[in-house]
Amino acid sequence: MITCAIVGATGLVGSTFLKVLEEKNLKIDKYYLFASKNSKGKKINFMDKEHIIEELTPEIPSHGFTYALFSAGSEISKEYAKEFTKHGTIVIDNSSAFRMDEDVPLVVPEINFDVIKDNKLIANPNCSTIQAMLPLAVLEKNYGIRRIVYSTYQAVSGAGKKGIDDLMHTSYGFKEEKFPHKIYGNCIPHIDSFLENGYTKEEMKMINETRKILDNKDLDITATCVRVPVMNCHCESINVELKTDFELATLLQQFSAMENLVVLDDTRFNIYPLNGFADDKDEVFVGRIRRDYSVPYGLNIWVVADNIRKGAASNAVQILEKLLNRCN
Ligand SMILES: NC(=O)c1ccc[n+]([C@@H]2O[C@H](COP(=O)([O-])OP(=O)(O)OC[C@H]3O[C@@H](n4cnc5c(N)ncnc54)[C@H](OP(=O)(O)O)[C@@H]3O)[C@@H](O)[C@H]2O)c1
Repeated sequence: MITCAIVGATGLVGSTFLKVLEEKNLKIDKYYLFASKNSKGKKINFMDKEHIIEELTPEIPSHGFTYALFSAGSEISKEYAKEFTKHGTIVIDNSSAFRMDEDVPLVVPEINFDVIKDNKLIANPNCSTIQAMLPLAVLEKNYGIRRIVYSTYQAVSGAGKKGIDDLMHTSYGFKEEKFPHKIYGNCIPHIDSFLENGYTKEEMKMINETRKILDNKDLDITATCVRVPVMNCHCESINVELKTDFELATLLQQFSAMENLVVLDDTRFNIYPLNGFADDKDEVFVGRIRRDYSVPYGLNIWVVADNIRKGAASNAVQILEKLLNRCN
């Protein structure tokens, strides 16, 4: 019997796990849903059945589930994920707890699924990293990347249920509780905490995770991550310096050929990726594709994706789906 535990099933990412799993109807015989003690006993309709949320407690890992999808934050992952693996469970973790561990594969299935060998613990990258990887993997493969400059415009849903509440509440004039300033009416250049080097943790996640996924430790990358008063979907302006020259027409074809990457780029008709279009979709959208004339082989692109779906839940479920297919 194939079983799957969902840890953090009541959260923004967790409830999207449930939605994506229903859509995909994978060959899992039984699901078990876990959250904090606040949600214990809560009833959720999932897969045409009523499921009762259980509290995650220290004896749960010993059940020995076949798979577990984690989205309950880093602290819970640090406390529980390895306990699950000790009992044979393959854990796909959405938090940042293990992403940079050398023995933990960091996976975007369209790009590097084959780095998973017999690992019991697999990490899902940060939401802002995942969406950037689809176009950047195309560029790295075909031209080689010399340097990346990330500028992100990240939705409040990236900060979970409390992020959404903060946008709603501050729009009614209440004081902020989640973000360091009132998010309504402001773009806040501050996501996660500041580090000694002046960057935020979010910016360093993008830099380090990009190097790991593209398997290029020496890649020059810089990032500025900004929280914007938008409900869902992250937008990214990505400036890339390539190692070799390119033809825009060829590059568009190469982007179009990439699985789950959709080119939306026709400025004659004001066509470019927007949050409202990417919302509730699993694809990554790329547009405003144009040369950066300030360097020899420069390129600017605008990349948008649903941070809760492709940036978190769908990416993890895609990994699970591929693992299940590999077993068959
Ligand atoms: N939002 C995004 O765009 C995004 C993208 C990529 C990765 N992630 C990562 O995914 C994780 C969850 O994010 P989210 O946005 O879904 O947050 P969220 O909406 O705040 O949900 C948090 C979930 O964790 C559960 N939880 C909290 N304390 C727990 C405990 N002691 N034991 C068991 N479960 C507990 C909560 O249960 P209760 O409802 O019972 O409190 C809830 O189900 C985080 O690690 C985040 O970094 C989020």
